[in-house]
Amino acid sequence: MRVSVIGTGYVGLVTGVCFAEKGHQVTCVDVDQAKVDAINSGVSPIHERGLEDLLKKHVGGLLRASTDLPGAVQQTDLSLIAVGTPFNGREIDLSYIKAVSKEIGLALQTKSGYHGVVVKSTVVPGTTDEVVCPILEAASGKKAGVDFGVGMNPEFLTEGEAVNDFLFPDRIVLGGMDNTIIDQQASLYEGFPGVDVLHVNNKTAEMIKYTANALQAMLISFSNEIGNLCTAVKGVDVLDVMRGVHVSRYLTVEMPDGRRVQPQIVSFLAAGCGFGGSCFPKDVKALAAHGQRLHAPMDLLDAVLKINEQQPQKIIQLLKKHFTSLKGVRISILGLSFRPDTNDMRESPAIPIIRSLLQEGAVVKGYDPVATDEARKIFSVQELMLSGSLSDALEKVDAVVLVTRWDEFRAVPELLKNKNPQPVFVDGRRLLDKTTIERYEGIGFEAK
Ligand code: UDX
Repeated sequence: MRVSVIGTGYVGLVTGVCFAEKGHQVTCVDVDQAKVDAINSGVSPIHERGLEDLLKKHVGGLLRASTDLPGAVQQTDLSLIAVGTPFNGREIDLSYIKAVSKEIGLALQTKSGYHGVVVKSTVVPGTTDEVVCPILEAASGKKAGVDFGVGMNPEFLTEGEAVNDFLFPDRIVLGGMDNTIIDQQASLYEGFPGVDVLHVNNKTAEMIKYTANALQAMLISFSNEIGNLCTAVKGVDVLDVMRGVHVSRYLTVEMPDGRRVQPQIVSFLAAGCGFGGSCFPKDVKALAAHGQRLHAPMDLLDAVLKINEQQPQKIIQLLKKHFTSLKGVRISILGLSFRPDTNDMRESPAIPIIRSLLQEGAVVKGYDPVATDEARKIFSVQELMLSGSLSDALEKVDAVVLVTRWDEFRAVPELLKNKNPQPVFVDGRRLLDKTTIERYEGIGFEAK
């Protein structure tokens, strides 16, 4: 199938490249000329495992990038909308969605034959039918369901693992206003045999995406709340508590052969310094705001957000156990991206942690295996020094804070071993064994 993907951010680019890998003819469209040029020269504008190899494989063949949206609509059978949907402090910001819907509609004026328009961006329930569809009809002068179809196909990609998640999905949700647009999407996804495919209406597809994200965010905040209580109780480690919870048959499932297997959902039942990223915070906020508007307040999700906003401060509290004032204290932050295997720093807990430390007068340096350029867009050289390696990050510091679960950080105990005195070490993710570091502090654990 000939597909255009509008917006080549984290979701759009992965989608475009992976559909090319599945044999479709893909045009990636973006307003950002620099991104388009990078893609056409086989360079991925984002760090995502396996993405650049696949991009290089298909660019110039099944994949090309362009800034020409009308041209892309003319030359393809289906357009996927994958532009950003940020939270503007009050509600979901649909301005990019509206802008590209209008452009697609205008392009449809002169297009002969049926065209599918499918929203891939995360949007609050009702957006596809009540915002995108009317804009397309008004701009094109054509009728939805006759001249073109409108669908909603949410993504379930974990940044850092997005290529793998796309190529080996656990489910495919196809939302649509009618069978024609659902069937068209079904042909697009023909190359994924054996995967559960749900055919639903657009609002249900939108709701599935939010509910999936809200569930995971809720488990994280729940674990953090329990962890904070463990700290207050003293003498209890949240890791031991959660181990005892995880081993329940509900969470460590017994297989027919007697083996017990832990589903991945358990990884969200872990205390830490909070969730971040381009999805959980903005999606939970958008859903809660939407509920408020529909007179269906979401008290649980409000609490999920409140706990998450407070969580980075737990790091500051742990540091303050060791320093009467943080003024002039040299602190190294390990991990700046919101999760490992990505350079994405959007809403990363590292940001509020670093800001609070700067406010307290600390001297802060940071290290991340891939997010250095992103960090420089957020913090100036005066605010944040950047280390070139993990060992450099551990040099001449009074305290170290681990914020992201990068695998590389497992080497920290070995690297700290011969330092005298050892810096205070605050494990914001409970990644390391507390017995392997002299001055260890962790979320959800208080010795005395
Ligand atoms: C996506 C989804 O769209 C969002 O709804 C979901 O919740 C998470 O992932 P993401 O891929 O992270 O967003 O967005 P971003 O990295 O901001 O990329 C959006 C791209 O669209 C950018 O490259 C931007 O230049 C482009 N864009 C934006 C357009 O091409 N046209 C526009 O009008 C606006």
